Amino acid sequence: MDLNNKVVVVTGGANGIGRALCEKFAEAGAKVAVADLDMSAANELANAINGIAVSTDVGDETAIQKLVAETEDKLGPIDIFVSNAGVSFSDAPGWMAASAPNDHWTASWNINVMAHVFAARAVVPGMIKRGGGYLVNVASGASLLCQMGDAAYSTTKTAALGFAESLAITHGDDNIKVSVVCPLYVATAMTEGGRGVSGQDEVMTAEQAADAIYAGMEEETFMILPHAELATYSQRKGADYDRWLKGMRRMRQGMLEQNPEYAYKV
Ligand SMILES: NC(=O)c1ccc[n+]([C@@H]2O[C@H](COP(=O)([O-])OP(=O)(O)OC[C@H]3O[C@@H](n4cnc5c(N)ncnc54)[C@H](O)[C@@H]3O)[C@@H](O)[C@H]2O)c1
Repeated sequence: MDLNNKVVVVTGGANGIGRALCEKFAEAGAKVAVADLDMSAANELANAINGIAVSTDVGDETAIQKLVAETEDKLGPIDIFVSNAGVSFSDAPGWMAASAPNDHWTASWNINVMAHVFAARAVVPGMIKRGGGYLVNVASGASLLCQMGDAAYSTTKTAALGFAESLAITHGDDNIKVSVVCPLYVATAMTEGGRGVSGQDEVMTAEQAADAIYAGMEEETFMILPHAELATYSQRKGADYDRWLKGMRRMRQGMLEQNPEYAYKV
């Protein structure tokens, strides 16, 4: 994959995994648009990598359309669109699977799923006309397994994987490449610097995650797994769902013993 002079958009590019990706793409010669709500970090990064910063709320379709128009105006037609921005809340305060407030569910849908739809709607027709393009959608290990204690995150990240599959099947023959990225734990603000649920999960740095994503993009792999062990976990789940659920319930009980405040009360 030759990134020299390629135009790349990275949403949620100002911090965390997105920031590490922007730096990596710029190092490879790409012209990068850093799209984020955090404009102070986005401007600082854009200056450092000779890119542009675009204030964008990815959950708003008009904002995505403006991001595409501004990027194409300033940098040229978009070759690669990385939908990386994402949010996670938790099942607090009720800690039942359906107890998170509706505004957290709505934000999770809009940012973790609909933003990918808005991006594809805005860039795929132009990419097809130009002969191809690449969409990289950052989902999560929660797309394949489950993020205990955050049903909205697990549900929407699973939906993001479903949408990436539809994109790849519908547009693969149009030379639209699609990758979906499913990391386990990465030390960023989202994980408060890196916390694993089981205590055994490998927590990687954002730079390590970006290196793995970049390597997956070079191979044009659909499913990019920065944490290789996720492949085994998800095969075990697929082979025996009931056994997997029992194991997850056991893990949840272990977590509740350490953190009794996460137990729900009826
Ligand atoms: N950190 C992890 O362990 C982990 C694991 C699996 C998947 N992920 C996914 O990786 C992606 C990046 O996560 P991260 O850990 O780097 O998070 P982060 O919180 O460090 O960074 C997220 C960035 O997205 C921006 N953002 C949030 N809402 C936005 C919106 N509506 N519009 C535009 N920008 C917005 C934030 O300002 C921030 O710059 C997310 O999709 C996340 O779900 C992270």
